[in-house]
This record gives sequence, C-alpha cells and structure tokens, in this order.
Amino acid sequence: MATKKKSALKKKNACATVKVALLGFGTVGSSVARVLAASKFPGLQLTHIFNRSVERKRTSDAAKAVPASVVWTENIDDILQSNVDIVVELMGGLNPVEGWLRRALASGKSVVTANKQLIAYRGAGLAKLAALHKVHLTYGAAVAGGVPVIPGMSQGLGGDQIARLSGILNGTCNYILNRMESGADYATVLADAQQLGYAEGDPSADVDGFDARAKLCILSRIALHAELDPDAVSTQSIATIEAIDFSYAKELNCTIRQVSRAQRDGSVVQARVAPMLIPLTSPMAWSHGTQNMVVASGRFGGDVVFSGHGAGGEPTAVAVVSDLLAVAQNCGSVALPVRRRSVSSEFVAPHYLRFVVDDKPGIVSSIAGALAKVGANIDSLLQRPGHPKHRLPFVITTEPSLTSTLEKAMTAIARMDCMLERPLCLQILTAEDKPE
Ligand SMILES: NC(=O)c1ccc[n+]([C@@H]2O[C@H](COP(=O)([O-])OP(=O)(O)OC[C@H]3O[C@@H](n4cnc5c(N)ncnc54)[C@H](OP(=O)(O)O)[C@@H]3O)[C@@H](O)[C@H]2O)c1
Repeated sequence: MATKKKSALKKKNACATVKVALLGFGTVGSSVARVLAASKFPGLQLTHIFNRSVERKRTSDAAKAVPASVVWTENIDDILQSNVDIVVELMGGLNPVEGWLRRALASGKSVVTANKQLIAYRGAGLAKLAALHKVHLTYGAAVAGGVPVIPGMSQGLGGDQIARLSGILNGTCNYILNRMESGADYATVLADAQQLGYAEGDPSADVDGFDARAKLCILSRIALHAELDPDAVSTQSIATIEAIDFSYAKELNCTIRQVSRAQRDGSVVQARVAPMLIPLTSPMAWSHGTQNMVVASGRFGGDVVFSGHGAGGEPTAVAVVSDLLAVAQNCGSVALPVRRRSVSSEFVAPHYLRFVVDDKPGIVSSIAGALAKVGANIDSLLQRPGHPKHRLPFVITTEPSLTSTLEKAMTAIARMDCMLERPLCLQILTAEDKPE
C-alpha cells in the first residue's frame, strides 16, 4: 500500500499560526510588510525580516508598520535554521537567492517569490525540489505584478487547453511606445521613463526584450505546460522604432506594441518577443501607460484577457500576499506535467518592412527582386509625401511569410548602396491569428 506523505504545512495543526519570513526589505518587501500589518490576516504571522545592512532598514520609515515582535537579521541562517513555515523572497537575481531557496525548500519551508529571472531560469529545478519535499513554490507576482495572470491561468483557466498566449509583459516598453504613438521620439521618452523611475539607467533588460522574455517563459510553463530555455527565445529591441512607423502603422489600421507571443506547434513552441504591428481593434492596442496585458486563447473557452497596472510596490505586494494566503491555506494548485520543449522563432505572418533610402530610380524593383528571390509576396507599398528624396522612408507590407525568410532578404537589402539605415522588419498580428 502506498504511504501518503503529507505536506509540511498540512502536518501542522490547521489552527497553528503560519510563520512567515521576508527576504529583502526593498520596494516590494516593505509593501508586503505594510499590507500584512494593515490586514492582520488571522493565522499568519510575520516573524523575521532579512536584508543586508539590516539596521538601515530597521530604522527606516518603512519599518514603522512592522510589528515590534519581528526579528530583523542580516544572517540568512537565522531564517533557514528557524521554525519559519514560509519564506517570501523579494531580493531579486539568481545568486545567492537560488541556493538559499533550495536550502529553504529542502528544510520543509514553502517559498513565495516575485523573482521572474529566478523562475524563468531555475523554476523547473526549484519546482522539482518543492515537490520532493512536499512544500509549495508559488510565484504569482513574477508576471504582471498585481494582475493575477498566473493564478488566473493556473486555477481559472486550468480546465482549458491554452493554444496560444500573446501579451504586453513589460510596462516600461508600453509606456515608451504609447508616448511615441502621440508623436514623441524614442530618446526623449526613454529619458522621461528613466526620470519617472519606470526605466533603469541601463534600459536594455526592458527595451531589448529580456524582461518580457523571462515572463513569457514563466507563462508558457503555466499555460502551455512547456518548459522553455529563455535564451532560446528570440528578442528584438524596440529601440529601432521611429515616429514614422506609427504613422505608417496607423495607415494600416494598426499601432505598435512590444508583444510577447508563444504558441504550441506539435512538440515545438513558437515564441518571440518583439515590437509588432497590432490591429487597432485588438485589446492590446488599448493598453496605456505602464499597463500589462495578457490574452490567453483557449481551445474551449476562447480568448480571456488579463490587464492592469502590474508593477509597483503595493500592487505587487497584493499578489505576494495572495500567494502567501493560498499557501497558508494549503491550496497550492494541482501540478500538471510540464515538458521541456524546443523553441522556434518561426511564425508565418504578414510583415511590415520599413526602408530609409537615398531615392534613386529602380530601388523598389531591386527590393521587390530580393523579396521575390526568397518567395515573399508584396501586399502593399506605402509612401507618405513630404519627405526629402535624399532621406526617404517608405514601407512595404508582405503577405504571410516566415520571419526568418524575410530576415534573409532584409540582410541582402541592407547591403544596397541606397539604404541609409538597416531596414526594419516587424510582424503584423492579424485578427485571423487564432488558435486552432
Ligand atoms: N518593483 C516591482 O514593481 C516589482 C514587480 C514585480 C516583481 N518584482 C520583483 O520583486 C523582487 C524585488 O523587487 P524590488 O523592486 O522590491 O527590489 P528592491 O527595491 O531592489 O529590493 C530588494 C531588497 O533586497 C535586498 N537585497 C538584494 N540583494 C540582497 C542580498 N544579496 N542580500 C541581502 N539583501 C539583499 C536589497 O537591499 P539593498 O537595499 O541593500 O539593495 C533590497 O532591500 C524582484 O525579484 C523583482 O523582479 C518587482
């Protein structure tokens, strides 16, 4: 007869207090402490706070909400060797966090984290360890902060077969592209985003798509049951988008957003993070400011949209505390099998190609020739009046083609003498782009 091993939390008397430790007392950590203090959830007790140079945190204004009984420490062993039940990790990064959380799980403590890089790169191993020790690992705040995309997908949509995900997973890029839509240029908006604290001094994780890529991999695990190597998912920067692209996009009844998309194709997952043209009728076109949005397309339930202003201390703290409550109530979701999948960035889609040329006769036919050589058909040619001939931007849209095929043609076209900039190649999402 099989012996059932009970979870560490189940073993506790249902009436016993669940002890919680916070690792990291920064933006989110201090907000979690504030939310816990304000709501006083019965049966949940914050017992420890860990941070480096902890005295500075203990005497900060943010610490005023923290109960006097809490132990402040800069020694991780004070947490890992304690009788704490749930460790809440809000420090970020892979090291030393991964090792510490492995020790926590191995010693029977459940873990709640908002750390998307950790979960995207090390989530599979940590989940295995949690299962082995019959404890919980939850990360509802790792994607879209306070918007409950992960619990919504794992619990609310767990009964469907999600065929496809698309979304706006990086609020900073959404802010930048929204402002550019109203006429501002990239450099000005990026500087504003940095001043407002939306973008880091080095904005590359956001604008080059790495942050969104980590989140797309986490969502693929939850919704598509597919484990992806984040480094295998192709990304394209939004830094090459110019104001003129929004004018041409508008002529095509579209706008431009950084879109993260993933869909199952047999045993492969097609995944990409890139600026794309999206129809003005798409819910993603309506996302404003730093808003996040995810559209999950299910076989049985159709499209479900999650949206909201994800980031920020308190919205993210709500997601963390909700995870905490779910773990404390011992209702972690049923673990469905997740398989390692190879990744392809090959989508068949219509494409938007923008060229900036020193205008000379025969340019369009040379470009058309290069496209014909790879078998791509032109759908339309757009050229707005009023631009100088020596620096002329114009656009070609193609019928559905493989992105890699077009990129091959674009490499050849970029070598033409008349090209003043590397041509831009963006996928166009279409309304027909529905799951099977
Ligand atoms: N902020 C958001 O809106 C948001 C949204 C969703 C998810 N998240 C995720 O939530 C996590 C925390 O983000 P945050 O914005 O709260 O970051 P944060 O403000 O930088 O806070 C991190 C805290 O952890 C401490 N810390 C970092 N490394 C440490 C180490 N090795 N040893 C001891 N203490 C350490 C930091 O101490 P110092 O003060 O000394 O640096 C700081 O107090 C990250 O994984 C982030 O990706 C954040």
